[in-house]
Amino acid sequence: MRLQFIVTILFSFSLNLCSAHNLRPQANCSSCLPNPIATTYPHNITGTINATTAVLLVPLCYAQSLLPSRFANSILTHAYTRFNIPPTTYPLVVESIIDHDIRYGNIPVAADFSSFRLTFPFIDLLGDGYSTFRYTGYIYLPPSNTVAINGSQAYGYTVLPAYFAPPDAPYEFTSRNQRDRLFQVFEPPPTTANHDHQNKGGRPRSKLLGATKFRPAKTTTTATAHSTIPLAFYKNITNQIMFGNNTAVCDRMMSFWNTSITTGPYAPQHVVGEVALGPPLVPREKVWRDVPGLKADRAFLEVNYLDCKGLKGWGGTGSGDSG
Ligand SMILES: *[C@@H]1O[C@H](CO)[C@@H](O)[C@H](O)[C@H]1NC(C)=O
Ligand SMILES: *[C@@H]1O[C@H](CO)[C@@H](O)[C@H](O)[C@H]1NC(C)=O
Ligand SMILES: *[C@@H]1O[C@H](CO)[C@@H](O)[C@H](O)[C@H]1NC(C)=O
Ligand SMILES: *[C@@H]1O[C@H](CO)[C@@H](O)[C@H](O)[C@H]1NC(C)=O
Ligand SMILES: *[C@@H]1O[C@H](CO)[C@@H](O)[C@H](O)[C@H]1NC(C)=O
Ligand SMILES: *[C@@H]1O[C@H](CO)[C@@H](O)[C@H](O)[C@H]1NC(C)=O
Ligand SMILES: *[C@@H]1O[C@H](CO)[C@@H](O)[C@H](O)[C@H]1NC(C)=O
Repeated sequence: MRLQFIVTILFSFSLNLCSAHNLRPQANCSSCLPNPIATTYPHNITGTINATTAVLLVPLCYAQSLLPSRFANSILTHAYTRFNIPPTTYPLVVESIIDHDIRYGNIPVAADFSSFRLTFPFIDLLGDGYSTFRYTGYIYLPPSNTVAINGSQAYGYTVLPAYFAPPDAPYEFTSRNQRDRLFQVFEPPPTTANHDHQNKGGRPRSKLLGATKFRPAKTTTTATAHSTIPLAFYKNITNQIMFGNNTAVCDRMMSFWNTSITTGPYAPQHVVGEVALGPPLVPREKVWRDVPGLKADRAFLEVNYLDCKGLKGWGGTGSGDSG
């Protein structure tokens, strides 16, 4: 069954978005607050990540089957049981993100860009039994952002070009109305030449590659899945050292959960919903329901291309970036 078909059933109200005519290229996030730490760390790359982070609680053996075989037996199950996740279950992390206001001091580094990826936290990259790293195999990126594509390839992430709908908002706050919010990942629309060709048979369509649909979680309900994933889990995994198929270099990505864009009126919001993924992220199209997640904006500081071995035991630097 095609992913588009499954998602059509699930998200039938979104059908009109499947036409390439309605897809817009990447836009900057006009509603995102500015980077609050650029002047605090003028000699580092900083920015903001406005994201929905979803946690697919899957059987451990399923997660192992998705990982490259060299990492399949490197999951540190004992490192996540303290987040109320049993050792026979694994938290696959699906992120829809917009990176915004990326700068080096006063110098803009890259335009805003959306991305979508499946990541594997709690991987014992160094084989020491305790250092937790986060693996990424594939990442969907807009084809226009050469800086992001180049940076991703350096880590050995396989970059898959994509258009996003909406292009500038991975998930909107829904406190005013409790309706579901949809985020979709499409194959880039055909080029003009292709477009004319495909248009003979009707409107050109871009293939749907993945989708998420979330609504705010009712935090008063205690028995539902979302309440079992504490905020500390999200702080923890967003501060694990990132790596890909090029295990010679690692990405020390710090996420600050204590700045003005993540607190007060912008405090993280627990969400619950559905996630649809297709190949090559998973072997067969699959839809998960009752998925817990978190919608949050946060400041980041990134130090690129570090020797992974030098990051042994990394656990953040303080209360803002450790969970
Ligand atoms: C995050 O993005 C959403 C749109 O997806 C926007 O409404 C919200 O204001 C942004 N949050 C911050 C703190 O900038
Ligand atoms: C800023 O970058 C420098 C050089 O890459 C690095 O040594 C330092 O640890 C970074 N600052 C922080 C707060 O991580
Ligand atoms: C987004 O912002 C960058 C500056 O960071 C600018 O160069 C680019 O033109 C903007 N893109 C759009 C579509 O407005
Ligand atoms: C990563 O490396 C493994 C082999 O270790 C390979 O099977 C896989 O195709 C590579 N790429 C991705 C995106 O997983
Ligand atoms: C691409 O990344 C490499 C590091 O892997 C860097 O040396 C090079 O300058 C980058 N090129 C562009 C166009 O960003
Ligand atoms: C995440 O949790 C693990 C184990 O529970 C811990 O060793 C590590 O220091 C934590 N990392 C961060 C960044 O909070
Ligand atoms: C926020 O968190 C960072 C990283 O843990 C820390 O260095 C900084 O002092 C914290 N800021 C405040 C105001 O607590």
